[in-house]
Amino acid sequence: MNKMIMNRKIMKKYIWGQYFTRGEIVRKVIDLILEFKKYDKNIKILEPAFGTGNFIRVLKEKGFKNIEGCEIDPRFTKTPQDFFLYPLEKKFDLIIGNPPFTKYNIKESYFYPKKYFQSPIHPRKYLPRKLLKKEKIRIENAFILKSIKHLKDKNSTIGFVLPASFFIEGKNLETKKVIAENFKTIIVYQNEGKMVDEPIPCVFAIFTNIKEFENKILLIYENNEKKVVKEVLDKEKLLTDEIIPKTYFYRKNNDLKGIPLSEFLLDKPVRYKKSFTKYNVSAANILAKTRIPPGENVSDYYLAVVRVGNASVGRAGLINIKKDILNDMFYVFAFKEKYNNNREIKEKICRILNENQEYFKNITIRVGSKSIKKRDILNFKIKI
Ligand SMILES: C[S@@+](CC[C@H](N)C(=O)[O-])C[C@H]1O[C@@H](n2cnc3c(N)ncnc32)[C@H](O)[C@@H]1O
Repeated sequence: MNKMIMNRKIMKKYIWGQYFTRGEIVRKVIDLILEFKKYDKNIKILEPAFGTGNFIRVLKEKGFKNIEGCEIDPRFTKTPQDFFLYPLEKKFDLIIGNPPFTKYNIKESYFYPKKYFQSPIHPRKYLPRKLLKKEKIRIENAFILKSIKHLKDKNSTIGFVLPASFFIEGKNLETKKVIAENFKTIIVYQNEGKMVDEPIPCVFAIFTNIKEFENKILLIYENNEKKVVKEVLDKEKLLTDEIIPKTYFYRKNNDLKGIPLSEFLLDKPVRYKKSFTKYNVSAANILAKTRIPPGENVSDYYLAVVRVGNASVGRAGLINIKKDILNDMFYVFAFKEKYNNNREIKEKICRILNENQEYFKNITIRVGSKSIKKRDILNFKIKI
């Protein structure tokens, strides 16, 4: 293929979020919905971004007859349709599929409300006011919010493959608020393998209303041996907690005991010397800095933890706040006053963190790259 056509194809893939759902996953998630809700074969179904038609194919195999779809790319359909221009009068019992996701560094992959201000379907009809005012929002949010307006009634259901990062605590709050207002039950399913052929950790989210799970979130995790674990949480946790099954169950099974590091560390930004070119401390050499050199002033030593990187995330060291220059790989924490001159505690925290690097690697499956949050470190518990 000529290079320009190839590049255009790759760009299109990212602009339109063309990551197709694996066949076995499509079957699995459709069965999952049917396990929780009995549907008549005549219900009205919408696949809002059907791509190669994976979901529609399996739904038809299962005997569903009344299926409509949208797809913007003329490569996949003779009648391309932008979902955001699809009439809101059309209502469905079930909206199912894998909407495009925004890739953070590709500006064309976002949804720009203004782009549709002159269209017959003004975004104010489906976006909450706060999002309407934004220049751009993640496209998966716009897909969810518009889909909600296409539902027939309170018993209708949305089932979407979403990036696991959607459910990170505090992210996508405006969309989560609308979800919480419109649905009594949220099911988040995740498996150990891949859902799409890209390194994006995904979940399958079902927003619906099930009597047995009223005002509840049901988390389901299935490993490669098909072993399934489930947990029911209160629905409010959608707005306050991270509800990604894999990280949730990992944390639960590795229930840390002891005192959270927030007891020892200050939860405040620290000013430290940073340089991309002239640093002397990096993720590669931080493990050589786990002790405070004899004769040095103990209070000058702060905790530095590597925040990203497949091999190095979670590595910890003690850096001299006056002398050391770090690159951009770290979170730096000051110790609380009462521990600031305590060499033993400082070195011990550092050692325990390094002994538990596996833990930090395991809780970083939310996004494609391995990265942790400051809170992960502050909530980490140790026995002193
Ligand atoms: C993640 S893919 C999923 C395709 C299919 N649902 C599946 O699971 O395999 C997203 C699809 O949405 C299409 N798409 C992107 N923006 C769209 C829009 N505004 N309206 C309709 N389809 C869109 C893309 O071309 C792509 O085929």
